[in-house]
Amino acid sequence: MKADVLLGLQWGDEGKGKVVDVLSAGYQVIARFQGGPNAGHSLQFNDQKFILHTIPSGVFHAGKMNVIGNGVVIDPSTFAEEVAMLTGAGFPPQENLLISRKAHLILPTHRLLDAASEAAKGKTRIGSTLKGIGPAYMDKTGRNGLRAGDILRPDFRERYETLKKKHLSLLRMYDYPADPSDMEDAWFKGIEVIRRFRLVESEYFLNRMLDEGRSLLAEGAQGTLLDIDFGTYPYVTSSNTIAAGALTGLGLAPSRIGRVYGIFKAYLTRVGSGPFPTELHDEEGERLRQQGHEYGATTGRPRRCGWLDLPALRYAIMLNGVTELIMTKPDVLTGLDSFKVCTAYRIDGKETLELPHSLDEDIVPVYRTFPGWKEDISQARHFSDLPEALRNYIGFIEKETGVPVTMISVSPDREAIIRR
Ligand code: IMP
Repeated sequence: MKADVLLGLQWGDEGKGKVVDVLSAGYQVIARFQGGPNAGHSLQFNDQKFILHTIPSGVFHAGKMNVIGNGVVIDPSTFAEEVAMLTGAGFPPQENLLISRKAHLILPTHRLLDAASEAAKGKTRIGSTLKGIGPAYMDKTGRNGLRAGDILRPDFRERYETLKKKHLSLLRMYDYPADPSDMEDAWFKGIEVIRRFRLVESEYFLNRMLDEGRSLLAEGAQGTLLDIDFGTYPYVTSSNTIAAGALTGLGLAPSRIGRVYGIFKAYLTRVGSGPFPTELHDEEGERLRQQGHEYGATTGRPRRCGWLDLPALRYAIMLNGVTELIMTKPDVLTGLDSFKVCTAYRIDGKETLELPHSLDEDIVPVYRTFPGWKEDISQARHFSDLPEALRNYIGFIEKETGVPVTMISVSPDREAIIRR
């Protein structure tokens, strides 16, 4: 059996939580492969809304196994809050969640270092979620990190103190006044919560599952344009958000990958700093923000809004080997007389379809204008229920990218999905 991958093709917030929740019905195992509590995967069903940060979005389906892979960074405090939220809502995850022993831990001092680093950057700050993601991955690659499996070692506390000491000296270097002690109690309680879960060598588990013919969905976080290598560096997150990240973040060989679902919004958003060639600074952008409830699921920050960027979408499709596209939030465009799509960039007077080394360059988007539609599409369940203008827009994207749009989400609810 092959593993399928679902990931975001933009700057995150494409609606992965909902789509994984919908797709989970068809998979036996759902595994998160990178990122951490910087993610906020929103799901909505039975008039209830849930936001998951670390736990895979398959957790609401009985009988599915969920895995936090080795590529994920776990903050024990956030993890414990998520477990409490799920338990309170009637979905206790103890039985159907496994945690990789190799997943790294985010320490309270990682969060402080994130804040110190951002403060030191001043105007050039990344706009990080301040969840300690960057510093935790730095310790991972710097070979100083603590892993989930370390919590079972008798000298765990000592290892924690050693790393904390190093962090405190770095914080002094930043001249950043910080005391982690008020966060430590919740953190160590979180460690006790993690202890109640099965810590496994998840690479063995997942490969065994595939060998036994079980279906596996790998769930990405953030989006391709936030990838550490291919995103809008340095305004990116600290992990590989692309399909390759599913290999290293779960321990799967390239030949193990089957379908790659690429999810994108019918327009574009970004939260945090960094270039955004099709950003709208006018009332049209504000309208998208209001209609689309474009406020960060993790930080509540208003998201920057703009038109769909096809050069960036094509780039993401290439990097990920996307086999199927999933469009979300076309309902947000409902009511517009017309809307735009960027089909190329003009740089120094020359048109190009490729992303330059830095999107900071003077890029003038080349737009094509599409007619809008007025009909409410939130109840549409078949492609033929959609207004012609939207069907044409989808057809245009398929032609431009060469990839079929196989699912369209028309409102946040689990049921509101069109499959083709
Ligand atoms: P960090 O990963 O928290 O360090 O944030 C780095 C950049 O990625 C910032 O611009 C964040 O706003 C952005 N970012 C991180 N996680 C997400 C996400 O899940 N959705 C959208 N943007 C994100």
